[in-house]
Amino acid sequence: MPPRIATARRLVLNAERRFLRARLTYGHGTDNARDEAVFLVFHALGLSFNTADAELDQLLEPAQMAAVEVLIKARIAQQRPAAYLTGRMWFCGHEFLVDERVLVPRSPIGELINTRFAPWLDIGQVRRVLDIATGSGCIAIATALAFPWVQVDATDISPAALEVARENAARLGVADRVHFHLADIYPTPREPYDLILANPPYVPQAEFDALPAEYRHEPALGLVAGADGLLVLRRLLGTLRDYLAPEGWLVMDTGATSDALAEAFPDFPFTWVALAHGGDGISVLAARDLPRVRGDGTSRQLLE
Ligand SMILES: C[S@@+](CC[C@H](N)C(=O)[O-])C[C@H]1O[C@@H](n2cnc3c(N)ncnc32)[C@H](O)[C@@H]1O
Repeated sequence: MPPRIATARRLVLNAERRFLRARLTYGHGTDNARDEAVFLVFHALGLSFNTADAELDQLLEPAQMAAVEVLIKARIAQQRPAAYLTGRMWFCGHEFLVDERVLVPRSPIGELINTRFAPWLDIGQVRRVLDIATGSGCIAIATALAFPWVQVDATDISPAALEVARENAARLGVADRVHFHLADIYPTPREPYDLILANPPYVPQAEFDALPAEYRHEPALGLVAGADGLLVLRRLLGTLRDYLAPEGWLVMDTGATSDALAEAFPDFPFTWVALAHGGDGISVLAARDLPRVRGDGTSRQLLE
């Protein structure tokens, strides 16, 4: 039940308590009940995250309380990620439109964008970027916004996801520098990129089947990658050399499948990045360190 005398602060605490009681799962931009409550209550009340403390203690109108209650009830009853209820998610300081056509943006690649990919590469030298499996376009668009001199191509196999991505690029004013392609991993024609970014699907089918309800609202196409999670990654790495400039870099988010990836591709000297804001599974790899490949573009291990 919501409190009878309500301020934003009280509604946050009330929502937190109810979320904990309902044993919800987090992981779509927040990792705890308090932050999830703040996200939803602030959205319903139109508050920004730098709202002054005093404003949080002002009495609310019944209509404001009702707007909050709708979201809190829906979050508990439907177990949908909060971002699908608000239709919005923040990534690298920008607000993206999201719905069930796309994964909720949360990749730790955002931290590398914010830190200019230092110390791995000199972003000032980068001109052409490819974002593979772009979903909402969050990584492609945030990269274009952070580095106004780059041109970005972005691919996705889902036409529905690309609709969302194109809308985000237009809203955020980079439609002229971010080009979306309906493509299976790589776009055509084949061109060399200075930087390839990828947060592809990498969840093994059995793990996906056991995920909490919240993840079932996301498009399975964005998560599942065969029995071992490597279905898309195997093909991505198989022809990587054809798309990476000689001084280029690959930056990937492979989450919990990173150990399996490293084990399956011992010839690829991935460097695993320690992130200040947490999160695992981010690797960087320089084109110059790629293993030698056979004539068909595959390395020994890719054929095994
Ligand atoms: C993990 S989501 C990542 C979305 C976005 N980059 C992000 O970080 O939020 C993966 C995306 O890959 C897309 N996808 C799945 N298979 C693909 C393929 N073979 N080629 C291109 N995109 C693919 C899905 O449609 C989904 O949008």
